[in-house]
Amino acid sequence: MESVFESSSPEETAKIACEFAKLVRAGDVVCLEGDLGAGKTAFAQAFARAVGVEEPVTSPTFCLVSEYAAREWLFVHMDLYRLSGPDDVLSLGWEDYLSRGAVVFVEWPDRAGDLVPENAWRVSIAHGSSPLSRTISISRIPAA
Ligand SMILES: Nc1ncnc2c1ncn2[C@@H]1O[C@H](COP(=O)(O)OP(=O)(O)OP(=O)(O)O)[C@@H](O)[C@H]1O
Ligand SMILES: [Mg+2]
Repeated sequence: MESVFESSSPEETAKIACEFAKLVRAGDVVCLEGDLGAGKTAFAQAFARAVGVEEPVTSPTFCLVSEYAAREWLFVHMDLYRLSGPDDVLSLGWEDYLSRGAVVFVEWPDRAGDLVPENAWRVSIAHGSSPLSRTISISRIPAA
């Protein structure tokens, strides 16, 4: 099942992220897909606020992984863009985060290959016809 939302502003994207937050449970992996500047980090930031992260969530482009205390679990935000494959992803502590029940948001999840668990969420953000418009598709990755 895929849900598709049309967003016409960063604020609308934030609302969609807040609604999505109600569905996410401890241990879920959320793969964020979309071109550069699509809004993956913006979506993660709004999600983080919705789940009780109080400190500012910055783009993990340079630090690769950031951890934040949310109300019920650890919120982990990764940007795998600069990594070459699953071995690099493991070295970021991937298995430890999952075994601790963290919610892990992953930008550029293709780098993680088979490490992405069955039933992970897929949030795909695409630019629309105007500068502020985005199409956001949310689904669960089916078992292989
Ligand atoms: N409808 C919208 N939804 C989300 N972001 C929007 C929207 N319209 C404009 N924007 C802007 O687009 C930019 C998205 O940047 P963001 O860093 O979130 O992208 P990204 O997908 O994480 O990119 P990167 O691949 O470089 O990490 C922000 O400046 C945001 O304000
Ligand atoms: Mg980003």
